[in-house]
Amino acid sequence: MTNMTRRGVLGSALATAAASAHAQDGKIRAYEHGDNKTGGGLTLRLVERPAPKAGPGQVVMRVRATGLNARDRSLMRGVRIYGGAGDRPTLVPFDDNAGDVLSVGSGVTRVKPGDRVICTHFPLWIDGPWDDITMTKMDFGVNVDGFCAEQALAPADGLVKIPDSLSYEEACTLPNAGLTAWNAVMVESKPVAGETVLTLGTGGVSVFCMQWAKLTGARVGISSSSDQKLARMKDLGADFTINYKTTPNWHEAAMAATGGKGLDVVYNTVGIGEMERAIRASASNGRIMVIGANPTNPAGTTTEDQGLRDFPRSMIMRRLKVQGVLVGSRKMLEDLVATAAERKVKPVIDRVFPFEQVREAIAYLESGGKAGKIVIKVS
Ligand SMILES: NC(=O)c1ccc[n+]([C@@H]2O[C@H](COP(=O)([O-])OP(=O)(O)OC[C@H]3O[C@@H](n4cnc5c(N)ncnc54)[C@H](OP(=O)(O)O)[C@@H]3O)[C@@H](O)[C@H]2O)c1
Repeated sequence: MTNMTRRGVLGSALATAAASAHAQDGKIRAYEHGDNKTGGGLTLRLVERPAPKAGPGQVVMRVRATGLNARDRSLMRGVRIYGGAGDRPTLVPFDDNAGDVLSVGSGVTRVKPGDRVICTHFPLWIDGPWDDITMTKMDFGVNVDGFCAEQALAPADGLVKIPDSLSYEEACTLPNAGLTAWNAVMVESKPVAGETVLTLGTGGVSVFCMQWAKLTGARVGISSSSDQKLARMKDLGADFTINYKTTPNWHEAAMAATGGKGLDVVYNTVGIGEMERAIRASASNGRIMVIGANPTNPAGTTTEDQGLRDFPRSMIMRRLKVQGVLVGSRKMLEDLVATAAERKVKPVIDRVFPFEQVREAIAYLESGGKAGKIVIKVS
């Protein structure tokens, strides 16, 4: 996308102007986040940009919906991933996306104008093994513009068509949270009937882990800090629930829930702070899927403060497999979408915000009040 951003921050009157009128003017509305040199406070602003033009192998997507993931909280605060955005001063945030193909660049045959599509989180990972050196070079909202805009560029190779069973709002939750959970459940841990799994918290990834794991026939538990959220998860199909706030030693509750055998799979969407309990909660031959990389434990202290020395011994004695999970390939997203359509799986959306209320959506994410996904309806 051209970097000829017009810097004027739009006022609220302009923010409510019709999207189509802007596009006809050759301009679009987009949010940008930039360097947070001073630290603290959101760097987000709504600006007007020239409408993007598709280069070779690219499409212009009319973005219908985008959404928030845990990492967007950090990105909004200026935290850099992979050393940041190079010499680009600003980027359009958010990788969640769903929309229509507006136009295609030369050489594009996979999709055509009018197709309903999503673009996978790492569009350079099509299939086969992951390579972090080459495949992180395109990460939406981190080193290329993301999808919090009326139009966005996407590489045609990263696109997957949206099935009729899913709305744009539902589909936009799949490229990151949905796919990460799919990879963790269906590719890396593969639970089977007769096994018991537990997924931690009711965040976007974790709720998808619960939904995909239910398709496998395994017995599925989920934890939360909120009994109200756990009641909702029961309604959505959870076989057992644990409140990790009222039961901080949740591994004991997991042991009780499995008759003392332990969990066959733990989806650790939190990070190091829950690794010790995840290991303690595991059955022999268990698998721990490491998805969250939060560097602090629940008390907020860093990992150096924790007794990690016993981890290898515990892992050896129970013959555990500890597996890092990173989003997923386009092939995995294609498999996910086909299964979601066939098995009628609906992403769990907590709340949809209008495009003009992205700040409110982020504040809601930060409040911790939601379960599942927060979506932004763009157009
Ligand atoms: N590896 C990857 O490829 C990948 C991809 C996507 C996300 N992630 C990471 O996965 C994590 C979750 O992402 P997300 O987008 O799903 O986050 P999210 O929607 O913001 O959800 C966060 C949830 O975590 C739960 N939580 C916090 N502390 C907990 C604890 N000690 N025990 C159990 N649950 C706890 C809370 O659930 P309750 O409100 O129910 O208490 C909270 O709502 C983040 O660290 C993110 O960076 C990794």
